[in-house]
Amino acid sequence: MLALAGSPAREAPAAATSDATVDAALAAGRSLYAFDCSVCHGPTGGGLEEARLAFPPEHRRCTRCHKPNNPVVMPLDRPFVDNDMFAIGTPPALHGAARDAAADGAPLAALARPEALFAYLRATMPRYDPGRETDLEYWLLTAHLLDMNGRAEAAREAVGAAVALGFTAP
Ligand code: HEC
Ligand code: HEC
Repeated sequence: MLALAGSPAREAPAAATSDATVDAALAAGRSLYAFDCSVCHGPTGGGLEEARLAFPPEHRRCTRCHKPNNPVVMPLDRPFVDNDMFAIGTPPALHGAARDAAADGAPLAALARPEALFAYLRATMPRYDPGRETDLEYWLLTAHLLDMNGRAEAAREAVGAAVALGFTAP
């Protein structure tokens, strides 16, 4: 379903993207997020404090295994040495409602242009294995994060870019 089409067109005319396609792309983005991002950023983007609650109580102290001095990037398909798990850092909340703007500033997804958010995600997330998603998937994740921040028009633009890479509503 998420296969890549040939041309890496970056921007598609937003007006040409139907509401049904936008809904399907946002649903696909939500499910990618649930698989690859919510483990650190929380199911609704509330940050590590929310993410912790999805773990059994005895696993909530992440640094017991993901030691802060361990490497940050450690793809899961490589063998782990001495049970050294990647450091997870402090995954922030991804939307304004869950974030202390005074302490942390506004979330990137509340401010950035869609292409800038896409470029950030592709270069850095998921933090232990950046670049592991396809460009099409990064656009769907971009659309989801923009939608999470109430940016409907920007989310539609990101969906347009996913459509240009071959996304079609199922
Ligand atoms: C008891 C040790 C332990 C604790 C505590 C622990 N982890 Fe892990 N974690 C692991 C191991 C081992 C793996 C690799 C599992 C695998 O290869 O599927 C892993 C994998 C992961 C992954 C990548 C795979 C995935 O499921 O997405 C993430 C992200 C992660 N942990 C985050 C966390 C967070 C966040 C916490 C704290 C809330 C935490 N872990 C607590 C041992 C631990
Ligand atoms: C292993 C934990 C972990 C996983 C998994 C992870 N992130 Fe992150 N993320 C972080 C940390 C920590 C930061 C803070 C910046 C840094 O240290 O790189 C961050 C920062 C971000 C930011 C910038 C937040 C801001 O407003 O400044 C976004 C957006 C983001 N992540 C999205 C994602 C998406 C989308 C995924 C899934 C593809 C993902 N992250 C997976 C740990 C994680």
